[in-house]
Amino acid sequence: MHQTIHRIPVRLTNNPYEIVIGKGSINCIGEELLKAGIKKGIKILVVSNEDVAIPYGDIFLKSLEKCGYQPSLLIIEAGENQKNPESVALIHDAAFSANLERGSLMIALGGGVIGDMTGFAAATWLRGISVVQVPTTLLAMVDAAIGGKTGVNHKKGKNLIGAFHQPKLVLIDPSTLKTLPEREFRAGMAEVIKYAVIGDTILFNLLENCADLKNLLALNDKTLEEIIIHSCSAKAEIVSLDEREGGIRAILNYGHTFGHAIENLCGYGTWLHGEAVSIGMIAIGELAVQLNSWSKEDASRQKELLLKTGLPVLWPDLKTEDVYKSLLGDKKVKEGRVNFVMPKQIGEVEIKDGISKDSIKQCLDNLPR
Ligand code: NAD
Ligand code: GLY
Repeated sequence: MHQTIHRIPVRLTNNPYEIVIGKGSINCIGEELLKAGIKKGIKILVVSNEDVAIPYGDIFLKSLEKCGYQPSLLIIEAGENQKNPESVALIHDAAFSANLERGSLMIALGGGVIGDMTGFAAATWLRGISVVQVPTTLLAMVDAAIGGKTGVNHKKGKNLIGAFHQPKLVLIDPSTLKTLPEREFRAGMAEVIKYAVIGDTILFNLLENCADLKNLLALNDKTLEEIIIHSCSAKAEIVSLDEREGGIRAILNYGHTFGHAIENLCGYGTWLHGEAVSIGMIAIGELAVQLNSWSKEDASRQKELLLKTGLPVLWPDLKTEDVYKSLLGDKKVKEGRVNFVMPKQIGEVEIKDGISKDSIKQCLDNLPR
C-alpha cells in the first residue's frame, strides 16, 4: 500500500536535506533513512513522549530494526515546561547509556518541544551528531522541524539557549495528526495562515475556499497534504536563502513580535504559541492599516481566515506600556528599534523598523478586546 511521497529539497550549501511528506511514511522511516544516506547498522536514539510513542513508537522502532539500525527509545514527559536544560541532560544520559558515537543518530519523534530539545541535544553531544526530525504536530511539521533552530528555555526566557543544527532529514506523516488535540491543530493552522499571508496567494485562496478549518475532519486528505506541502515549501525556500536569519528569514516572524509579547505577559501556557501568533497577526494587520501600508479589505480577509480556523483574534487585557516594554525585550530588537514584519498585501510583507511608540500605542489602544 504505497502512498504518494512528496520530496521538498532544503537547498543549503553545506547541509542540504529533504522534507519527505506522505501518509503512512512513518512506517517506512528505516527505508527513508537509508535513502537519505544514513549508514545501516548505526545506533539511533529516538526521543519522544507518551502522547506520541504510545500510538506510533512500536511501528517506528520496528521499521528502524527491519532496516538494520539499532534503535533505543527515550520517553520525556510532555509539555513546554519540560523544554529545559534538565531534559537535555536526560537525553545526554540516554546517549551515554546507549553508547552513541560520532556516527550515531538522534531522532526527534514528536512536536516542536521534542524537536527543539532533541535537536539541541544532538548539536551538543560529542560536539554534534546527526539528527532527524519526525514532527507529529501541525506546527512542528510546517515550522519547527525545518530550518535547524534548536534549543531549550532558560528560566529567564523562552528559547534563550540554543544552536543552529540542521537535520539530515525531515519526515512528515500527516496521518499522525489524527491523534493530535484539536486546539493544537488550530495552533498549527496559525503558522499555515502566516505562510499564506507572507508569500503564498495560492495557499491563501485554497484556505479561503475551505468551508471550515477548525479541525482535521474539516479537511480532506488531499487538501491537508497540499496545505502542508505549500507551508513546508515556503519554509524550505526561505531557510535556503538565509540559513542563519541574517535577513529574509525574519519574515517568518510575521505576527510573532506582538505574539511573543502576549505569551510573555499572559504567561506561557495561557495561550498556545499559534494562538498568540493569531492575535499578533491581527495586531500587526491593524497597525499596517493605520499606517496606510495595507488595505482594510486584506486585513478583514486575514481575520476571516483566522476566525474560520477558530483561532483567537481579540487582544487580551494588557497594559499598553507593558506591551511596549515587552516588544523592546524581544530577541529580534536591534539597537532599541522594534523590527516589525508588516503586511503590504496578501502574499507580500516587508520588514519595517522605526515605528513610533505613539503609533504602536494608538494601534494597541484601538484593538478590539
Ligand atoms: P508540543 O511539542 O508541546 O506538542 C503539543 C502537544 O501535542 C504535546 O502535549 C504533545 O505531547 C502532543 N502531541 C504531539 N504530537 C501528537 C500527536 N500526533 N498525537 C497526539 N498528541 C501529540 O507543541 P508544538 O506546538 O508542536 O511545538 C511548540 C514548540 O515548538 C515551542 O517550544 C516552540 O518554541 C517551538 N518552535 C520551534 C521552532 C523552530 O524553528 N525550532 C519554530 C516554532 C516553534
Ligand atoms: N520559526 C521561525 C524560524 O524558523 O525562523
